[in-house]
Amino acid sequence: MRGQGQGRIYSEEALTEIRARTDIVEVVSGYVLLKQAGNTYKGLCPFHTEKTPSFTVSAEKQLFYCFGCGAGGDVFSFVMKIENMNFGDAAKMLADRAGVALFQDESPKARAAREKRRRLYDCMEAACVHYQAVFANSQEAREARDYVKRRGLSEETARCFRLGYAPRAWDSVLRTLTGSGFSREELVSAGLIIPSRSGKGHYDRFRGRLMFPITDISGRVIGFGGRVLDDSEPKYLNSPETELFRKGRTVYGLAVAKNSIRRESGAVIVEGYTDAIMCHQFGFTNVVATLGTALTKEQAETVSRYAPQVIIAYDADAAGGAATLRGMEILQGVGAGVRVAVLPAGEDPDSMLRKYGKEALARVLEDAKPLTAYKLYRIASQTDTSRLDQRVRAAKEAARVLANIESDVERVEYAEKAAKMLDVSREAMLGDVNRLVKAPASSRVKSRRQEGQDRFEVSRYTSFKDDIARSGEVAQVLKAERLLLRLMAENKAVLEMAAERLNWAELSDERHRALAEAIQASQDTHSERGERGSSPSRRAIEHIEDGEILEYAAGILVGEDEKLPDDLKKAAEDCINVILEYKLADRIREIEKELMSLSCTGEMQKSRELLAELGCLKKRISEELQPFRGTS
Ligand code: CTP
Ligand code: MN
Repeated sequence: MRGQGQGRIYSEEALTEIRARTDIVEVVSGYVLLKQAGNTYKGLCPFHTEKTPSFTVSAEKQLFYCFGCGAGGDVFSFVMKIENMNFGDAAKMLADRAGVALFQDESPKARAAREKRRRLYDCMEAACVHYQAVFANSQEAREARDYVKRRGLSEETARCFRLGYAPRAWDSVLRTLTGSGFSREELVSAGLIIPSRSGKGHYDRFRGRLMFPITDISGRVIGFGGRVLDDSEPKYLNSPETELFRKGRTVYGLAVAKNSIRRESGAVIVEGYTDAIMCHQFGFTNVVATLGTALTKEQAETVSRYAPQVIIAYDADAAGGAATLRGMEILQGVGAGVRVAVLPAGEDPDSMLRKYGKEALARVLEDAKPLTAYKLYRIASQTDTSRLDQRVRAAKEAARVLANIESDVERVEYAEKAAKMLDVSREAMLGDVNRLVKAPASSRVKSRRQEGQDRFEVSRYTSFKDDIARSGEVAQVLKAERLLLRLMAENKAVLEMAAERLNWAELSDERHRALAEAIQASQDTHSERGERGSSPSRRAIEHIEDGEILEYAAGILVGEDEKLPDDLKKAAEDCINVILEYKLADRIREIEKELMSLSCTGEMQKSRELLAELGCLKKRISEELQPFRGTS
């Protein structure tokens, strides 16, 4: 963690002093030949191989960012990265260089926060040990032990993944952990107990469930997934998002799998806890799982940091197929090489291993298909080739996929394969493809969008809700958010306006929320101290603790040669409108969908609440968005 190195804590004052006396341009120049280009300096990135300089250093903002590989941050991050040092050593090196003495004290507030987090980790660990002990020893857990056995999981596997059992009692974890000195408050923030409705007592969140601990990369328990032992619903109950546990950033099993992933230069991603565990038991030790949500960019980045090649092995059902396509695109987006393992219909890796054994899965993984091949395979598998109308429809769809392949050679090869799969003539297939390739780009773009729509008709869990069908809109909103953040860091009036009209929670990317808070915090302390001088972006960066967010934020703040618009305020208004409009419209869509389903079950109370919210949202649109539209 930043500010903390090998047990040593450096005071904020010391770090501020180092920042004040250090010029990032000078430090970087010790490693990279930099050329001045206007306000910034450019050079060849030391973190990846490149021929044209995309490594950028901003003297004003004291940040670096590589538009080629995405490395970025402040002077501390730079030294950490290039010297492969932890924060403490990098701080020491820079302190020496700047002639600053490093103190070892820590503000009481920072100390308290650190202590609180440590307690939370301890609490999760204690809960894990408790569930494990119940599972191994208690009479009541017999059912759970039988269940695990019946599913073919060995005792060793159960131990390795630390499986546990949460008894049916309402206060099992509550009593055990308060007995070990944890407060109820701590147990609530760990997500282990829930305040009862009356507001007086608390009860255990997990009851009568087989427990799958979820860990961070270094193996610390940060959450749980709990499975029922029968067919009741919900099948899995997961820990809520807590200070330690963020679903979208966590990859199940990575702590156990990471070395093997590195060794094999490849990872396999499956959907379920049981899939991952069973794979390990059968010797596929480079397997990890998502947590029942669509693969997120953060998860993709995390996995691809360990291996350049990733295979997706999702369930062979409709939802699995849709999730696969999206997962592939996300992985490709972060630069990973992706292939898809196609499982026999109706199987998941767990059931497949138990039915057909190790070799069968090994073969499926070996035969994993690249994206285009997978798309064609999907089309073919949905086609009854004995019917002409179906062959025609499928050939058209295939032509759209093929037309998007850039290389002529590759396109023709795939076209031949597709023709064979769909039982159409090679010439006709190529004819269809070539017509599309020659057609104006717009018709191809449209077809791609249509494809997006069929892709996401199926959604299984709520986290699927940002349909890819809306991916264009999402991209636009993200872009608006990035620009707005840059403007906020640049201009105080913009920051104030944005703070007034937006709730940071309304930003759709977690890192954007963090950066917005940092910008605001830096503005607040800045006005308190009445400081002048240092650039706002630079100050904002000092409020970001998390190295990954810092890296991402540097990219936004440095801004790729894009000139800022002349009228900052007007530009910011436009951004805010785009963001709000999307948020409000999205929520409206959600409510309308929910109302539709409620009207069947006749839940009046809930319907009334939703209708009221709908009314508020529509009012907000007319009050907050309409007036601004008028001005453009
Ligand atoms: N999941 C969830 N909540 C649910 C259902 C599923 O969080 N109500 C998540 C879990 O992480 C689960 C994953 O989605 O592991 C995949 O779901 P599914 O394929 O249904 O679960 P399996 O792990 O295959 O479970 P099992 O084989 O025990 O039925
Ligand atoms: Mn399963």
